[in-house]
Amino acid sequence: MVAEAATTMDLGGGLAVVTGGANGIGQACAVQFARSGAEVVVIDRDEAGLSVTGDRIRELGGKAHAIVGDCTSREFLRESFARIESDLRPVEILLNNVGQSARERASEFWCSEPEVWDDMIDLNLKSMMMCTRLVVPGMRERQRGKIISIASEAAYMGSEGVAEYAAAKAGVIGLTRSVARELAPFHVNVNAVCPGPIRTAAADRLPIWQKYLDETPMGFAGLPQDIANAVTFFASDMSRYVTGQALIVNGGRWWV
Ligand SMILES: NC(=O)c1ccc[n+]([C@@H]2O[C@H](COP(=O)([O-])OP(=O)(O)OC[C@H]3O[C@@H](n4cnc5c(N)ncnc54)[C@H](O)[C@@H]3O)[C@@H](O)[C@H]2O)c1
Repeated sequence: MVAEAATTMDLGGGLAVVTGGANGIGQACAVQFARSGAEVVVIDRDEAGLSVTGDRIRELGGKAHAIVGDCTSREFLRESFARIESDLRPVEILLNNVGQSARERASEFWCSEPEVWDDMIDLNLKSMMMCTRLVVPGMRERQRGKIISIASEAAYMGSEGVAEYAAAKAGVIGLTRSVARELAPFHVNVNAVCPGPIRTAAADRLPIWQKYLDETPMGFAGLPQDIANAVTFFASDMSRYVTGQALIVNGGRWWV
């Protein structure tokens, strides 16, 4: 007998971890998780941004915890997740959000530097692999959990000047689909959200930002909240029958 499907996006007091949640998309997701009833742990290297996220959550009457550090350090991630489980409780929702393109070190691939490839793959793919690896055994054992990773439309469409970033994000989708297959029998959902142009402080600095907007059929850049709304669907039991998916949220740019 299958239990009834959920009818709200209520996160039911579950413990959520958000990486890179001190700014932009991660901050909007952390706040939306709290608004939807989750207790939230935010991990980021930006201490000032972490307190802004924490204040926004507490203003809503939610519970927030901050951990400061570098998400490319496996040792730091191991210690952080161990502390979360011992000081709080098991993680029910993991949002792998931390990531960025090479920005000032970006170049067309023909003149790119292998050190930049390493950094981009460490940050955008291996950090997500590590966090996923750390929560999966507990979720599998409890037969409960949601893992959501932020990829990018660049994984599908490519993006000039950031090939290594697009390659890492395509890896996130492969990771998502594979872990989803492994965990489906254990009722753990694993999905990805692939943003297009989203108005954050970082995105506004991109030299090809205007070109992105010109190519967006809906004619405007999405907001971090647009991604938070998609992510919260995957974090809630409303998506219990959805796994291994990569949802593109980009104002129709996939038509281009
Ligand atoms: N904004 C967009 O248009 C867009 C489009 C597609 C995908 N994305 C993806 O969405 C996610 C969030 O992007 P955003 O635009 O909100 O970026 P952002 O730069 O506004 O926020 C990223 C956060 O990650 C943190 N961070 C970066 N490196 C870190 C590290 N090594 N350790 C700990 N924290 C670190 C930063 O301090 C920051 O708080 C990323 O995975 C990004 O690739 C964004």
